[in-house]
Amino acid sequence: MTESDKNLQERAYAEVKKYEQQVKADPYRQSFHLMPPVGLLNDPNGWIQWDGVYHMFYQWNPFETGHGAKFWGHYSSTDMVNWKEEPIALAPSEWYEKNGCYSGSAVDYDGKLALIYTGNVKDEQGNRHSYQCLATSEDGVHFEKHGPVIDEMPEGYTAHIRDPKVWKENGRWYLVIGAQTADEQGQALLYASDDLKAWELKGPIAGAGIGFMKSFGYMWECPDLFSLDEKDVLIVSPQGLEPEGMFYQNVYQAGYFIGETNLEQPIFHHGEFRELDRGFEFYAPQTTVDEKGRRILVGWMGVPEQNEEDHPTIANRWVHCLTIPRELRHEEGKLIQKPIEELQQLRQSQGLDETITVYNEETILEEKQAAPLELSFNGLESISDKCQWTFRGGTRLVYDKEEQLITLERTHVKTWETEKRQCRVDLLDELHIYLDHSSIEIFVNDGEEVFTARIFPDPSNQSVTIRSSEPTTMHVKTWHLA
Ligand code: FRU
Repeated sequence: MTESDKNLQERAYAEVKKYEQQVKADPYRQSFHLMPPVGLLNDPNGWIQWDGVYHMFYQWNPFETGHGAKFWGHYSSTDMVNWKEEPIALAPSEWYEKNGCYSGSAVDYDGKLALIYTGNVKDEQGNRHSYQCLATSEDGVHFEKHGPVIDEMPEGYTAHIRDPKVWKENGRWYLVIGAQTADEQGQALLYASDDLKAWELKGPIAGAGIGFMKSFGYMWECPDLFSLDEKDVLIVSPQGLEPEGMFYQNVYQAGYFIGETNLEQPIFHHGEFRELDRGFEFYAPQTTVDEKGRRILVGWMGVPEQNEEDHPTIANRWVHCLTIPRELRHEEGKLIQKPIEELQQLRQSQGLDETITVYNEETILEEKQAAPLELSFNGLESISDKCQWTFRGGTRLVYDKEEQLITLERTHVKTWETEKRQCRVDLLDELHIYLDHSSIEIFVNDGEEVFTARIFPDPSNQSVTIRSSEPTTMHVKTWHLA
């Protein structure tokens, strides 16, 4: 038995209402990041600018701060800065999605907004079936479900096939989807369609056994394939990679391959996998191209099964948020991420704009640098040895020039021990940082590397301090954000 759409929606709204005050009073509630009104948020979904308006949907469990039968929550915006909470887009009310309207994407479909998502179904024995489903809307707010458009699961694969990302190219619709082969290897599959309803499986385009790739995780989630600066990029979230030195330190990864595709064959010649983020919480990103032609990425600021249940916000009935939107560029085989320029609208007042010299004694930037805060540090080439920044007491960024190493340290949310993530850079010259009430996003060298992390400092600790092993001069700017 499934519960009616109306019932599910009413129960979700009742939950929002019941805990509204408690959620809003949480000291870790974010200021400029998208969060669930109550319950759990995970992947960004259906990310699109449609008819001038940006739509961000998200995986949502309104009833618990754990995973379950997901809804699609919905926000809209004209500038990606001011977001409006929209009515629930999808509730898991039909037989083909009864255990969750799982992740998917959005396209303009003859003037309608179409959502293509995975209907997740589990029977009493725990057997899974995945349906790829279609829903459309005339107004971008109310959706009509059309049911499964792909109901057969391909031969040679398990039921783990989900997260369709759809786009149109040369008059045809294409879809990439995460999949698991029968011998439990991750792959991305490509489908094609002339009408968005009848889909033909073209075949695997990347993953275990394709091209030079051997085994690379037991499942690939949330693939996204697009062209950028004359190259083709496949973003994917593989599961099951073992840590390798500084790489693959999180429970699950999110990264990309750059190369060239031929969709009709299909074939994708690509280079090595690279992680998109070097921090702690980043997974299942999705991109879209907006009307200005920018490729904009948003990720989930969380990782499945990575201390999700230890987040202190759970005491106040919510958990997780999305990252800020980042514009992507391709440069020499690497994706560069930059905060979208619209975020400058968040700036309420300028704090510092000065050249400072820091040394062994901690330099305190300003007594009250209360988050939400944006900071930039320039002229860091002049660091001669080591330099470290401490944010709100427990989060530290350490640069070791000789080792060409950047380390982000924070206090583990459960054990209180220090944990770290690291990456190498040739030379650090610039840092651009967004601090919200419970997160930090650090863009290194104009987005050459990014560290994303949730942090849960003592809310009264708003300090930002710097210390360096040799006298170092740098230019600091800070802005208080709305
Ligand atoms: C990724 C993911 C997707 C799935 C969704 C369910 O975080 O597991 O593969 O569609 O979340 O919420």
